[in-house]
Amino acid sequence: MPKDDFGKMVSLGEQIFEHPKENAPEFVGNQLHCSSCHLDAGRKAGAAPMWAAYVAYPAYRAKNGHVNTFEERLQGCFKFSMNGKAPPLGDKTLVALETYAYWLAKGAPVDDKLPGRGYPKLDKPPLPADYARGQTVYEAKCALCHAKDGGGQIAADGSMAFPALWGPGSFNWGAGMGSIKNAAAFIKANMPLSRGNTLSDQDAWDVATYMNSQDRPQDPRYLGTVEATRAKFHDSASSMYGKTVNGHVLGSASVPSGGTTMKGAPNP
Ligand code: HEC
Ligand code: HEC
Repeated sequence: MPKDDFGKMVSLGEQIFEHPKENAPEFVGNQLHCSSCHLDAGRKAGAAPMWAAYVAYPAYRAKNGHVNTFEERLQGCFKFSMNGKAPPLGDKTLVALETYAYWLAKGAPVDDKLPGRGYPKLDKPPLPADYARGQTVYEAKCALCHAKDGGGQIAADGSMAFPALWGPGSFNWGAGMGSIKNAAAFIKANMPLSRGNTLSDQDAWDVATYMNSQDRPQDPRYLGTVEATRAKFHDSASSMYGKTVNGHVLGSASVPSGGTTMKGAPNP
């Protein structure tokens, strides 16, 4: 990393990426790190690495129906994955993250299909994905780190040891990881941690279905009713938002988006 002012910005970007709550608290509503999902500080191929993302923007996104700059793409991750608030365009937080991604991407061609971008494609499972089988996988292979209630684990010093997969301390209903398809592909390639590609495709789909059939903070785009919000933003087989699971309509009793940690309160 260069030692000049440019290098300092790269370094700030890396620090925000690894510890967003500490380094960009005004925009972050949970204790997740960017690197909780973009593994190895955004470098790992097959875990949506930043070097492959950087060279893929500006890009049209169906999620908001227009061409997004890289900075705008970063804003979305704060709003949804970090259950926080989008930093304004030009804010130092975005400049630092963009500088870090640019630095990681040096030498890469401008190309939205670099090998290693996003997650490896995962075929549909042999059997329809199943909540009960997913629970069995979860309890055997995930709960040890992410806790039986999905809330993750906080270390004695208050820092996050294992990220929350659902519940009030996790990403909100608008996040990309809330899509069963995305979660299954991420999990297959990357989980259990450091033992990626050990689950069967079926197990990855089942456990992703179980994880995304639990409640989490409200979608910040909430339209006043769960039905309207599902119709506009979640009308897909990959989203359980608005579906009834164990007698509960997902999204109907979610804690508000925006989280508690933004105000300095400890995560539940
Ligand atoms: C809960 C998991 C999670 C967290 C935390 C998270 N992201 Fe993401 N991010 C995703 C998912 C899922 C995608 C979509 C990947 C895909 O569609 O292939 C994504 C996509 C992206 C992309 C676009 C990647 C591409 O190839 O187009 C960027 C850039 C990005 N995230 C940056 C960040 C930053 C910066 C942070 C922290 C402020 C962050 N993310 C936090 C899950 C997360
Ligand atoms: C050995 C501990 C461990 C096990 C077992 C494990 N994980 Fe993880 N998981 C982690 C850690 C740590 C991270 C964050 C990555 C990082 O910080 O490098 C993570 C990140 C995640 C994320 C993205 C972050 C978030 O909060 O959504 C998901 C999804 C996930 N794990 C799902 C699973 C599933 C499903 C299983 C079981 C198949 C599993 N994990 C097993 C340790 C583990």
